[in-house]
Amino acid sequence: MEIIIKPTEQDLAVVAAEAICEVYADKPNAVLGVATGSSPLPIYQELSRRVKEGSLSLRRAQAFQLDEYVGLPQDHPEAYHNFIRREFADITDIDHNSVYGEDGLATDLLAECQRYEQAIVGVGGIDIQILGIGADGHIAFNEPGTSLKSLTHPAVLTAQTRRDNARFFDGDIDKVPRHALTQGVGTILRARKILLIATGSNKADAVRDMVEGPVSISCTGSALQLHNNVKVLLDEAAAAKLERQDFYREIYANRPQGAWLGL
Ligand code: F6R
Repeated sequence: MEIIIKPTEQDLAVVAAEAICEVYADKPNAVLGVATGSSPLPIYQELSRRVKEGSLSLRRAQAFQLDEYVGLPQDHPEAYHNFIRREFADITDIDHNSVYGEDGLATDLLAECQRYEQAIVGVGGIDIQILGIGADGHIAFNEPGTSLKSLTHPAVLTAQTRRDNARFFDGDIDKVPRHALTQGVGTILRARKILLIATGSNKADAVRDMVEGPVSISCTGSALQLHNNVKVLLDEAAAAKLERQDFYREIYANRPQGAWLGL
């Protein structure tokens, strides 16, 4: 893991966008993994800025969502396909027909998960995956206790995650769906490159467990320790509980040329 600590989320968005631009410079039809939630929004804004100034094009890109709520009406603004359209696709030049997600209204949820997993394999896998992390250490909707080898599957959201996400549903936890379809930890580990962004003090425990804790289903983000191309992008508050902060800063300050160190 390469741990990058910067003062503001805008600084982190620039680091992320540079890494994404580098992937698209090499491979204009690269497959991008997109996350919802608040954390990646500055990254999408920065990608949008670069598309508008002409330094990045996603016209040939394909994008795959991490997850989708089960049971929300097709036109619900918080259904993740609508979130991703609004916050990412509409503000870049990606073809809307090249953005894919799980179908949270499918009648056979297990079959839908298998179809989605195969769709990712079918395009050759995800080249670069954007991730956030939940306060309980989840990545995508892989709550504590989820197998670190899991593939796309139906998930039950914990009360903590539903409380956290109530802010998108008028603050009413009862409006937050109880189930989602999510890429598994194993699906995420197949991505060639991973950018995880976390900001704010409410992520500090999860970040410590993910980076310095044991690899454990108690913090599914800790599985990223087993991947050799991960950048963890943190503001000071999210990094505050890391024991080896000085070490990470030293490595970053003295990194060799090249955006990906294979860490
Ligand atoms: C989003 C997702 C979640 C979020 C996590 C953090 O697609 O799968 O794992 O990344 O819950 O959410 P925010 O960024 O809103 O704090």
